Amino acid sequence: MSQESSLTTALAEAAATAGHAPSVHNTQPWRWRVLPDSLELHTVADRQLAAGDPEGRLLAVSCGAALHHARVALAAEGWRAVVRRLPDPGEESLVARLTDLTRTEADPDAMRLVQCMSVRHTDRRPVSDEPVPTDSMGEITRAVTDEGSRLQILDRDQVLELAATAGHAGAVEAEDPELRAEMAYWTSRADTGTGLPADVLPAEPPQTTVPGRDFGRPGSLPIGPGHDRMAVYALLHGDEDDRDSWLRAGEALSAAWLTATRLGVSVVPLSAVVEVPGTRQTLRQVLAGIGFPYLVLRLGIADPAQAGPPHTPRLAGEQVVDTSAVRGNQA
Ligand SMILES: Cc1cc2nc3c(=O)[nH]c(=O)nc-3n(C[C@H](O)[C@H](O)[C@H](O)COP(=O)(O)O)c2cc1C
Repeated sequence: MSQESSLTTALAEAAATAGHAPSVHNTQPWRWRVLPDSLELHTVADRQLAAGDPEGRLLAVSCGAALHHARVALAAEGWRAVVRRLPDPGEESLVARLTDLTRTEADPDAMRLVQCMSVRHTDRRPVSDEPVPTDSMGEITRAVTDEGSRLQILDRDQVLELAATAGHAGAVEAEDPELRAEMAYWTSRADTGTGLPADVLPAEPPQTTVPGRDFGRPGSLPIGPGHDRMAVYALLHGDEDDRDSWLRAGEALSAAWLTATRLGVSVVPLSAVVEVPGTRQTLRQVLAGIGFPYLVLRLGIADPAQAGPPHTPRLAGEQVVDTSAVRGNQA
């Protein structure tokens, strides 16, 4: 295999692997372009939540998660890349370019995280009564810090404040007809490989301290009698509130979630509170001026005795990875 064809094959495979990444409402708002010596990540405007995410925060966080998946996939195959985020202000859809690829040793930590990519999933049932080990929380927090964001574990009073704030965000969203229509759209199209199928959505509202997202319709996922008393709630945050920091927050989310998966810790992002401007502002007060909130995370240990939800479908590789510029180059 020539050096050029092994590179383009590695880039295409990393982009395909990144398809496992989580995204808001499973919109998968990304498209990869494989070029002879680089890989570009573009946003897809059609899959942005026009009502729920007009500024593109969650779009950028989702793309950041995909970017981190691709970076890890390349490192696991022994490729080092330079990442240029938002490299061309004139090209709005271009969020990152992976360039200057060089051969290196395959990274064993990255290899383990790649294995976690196909296992990781969102489990919206209440977590078990088993506490999250302190060491695991430490590793998850470090994974976030290593990606340039921060994770604040909320204390009891802050969790109660978060619960009230999440309840308010849910009520605001439930009253908005455009948001309701958008939610109905993304919960009724799983046969297209995007959106949320009924079997990953709770059949009835789970007993949780902080209310989960109201998907506007019951799903078919049995949730059991548990109450997630032992859940840990944390706020992913950072110093800035712009596209670059949202993208980095997505990379941190991916790093944290893959690390959590490796450690047997379940993660559920809660984003309604950052979608509604008023509740986002309240979260800022919870952070007491130390940063801007990007996402709330619920962490816990899933009940090992109960089968979890199935995997949420994904778009086919050729729908998200464009290899037309290197066709004939790939091995
Ligand atoms: C930025 C972002 C926001 C999300 N917000 C929520 C949320 O508010 N509630 C929820 O239950 N899941 C949320 N999720 C999880 C997605 O719905 C989930 O990742 C997607 O459906 C794909 O499923 P999977 O994680 O099981 O692969 C969010 C994910 C991301 C990346």
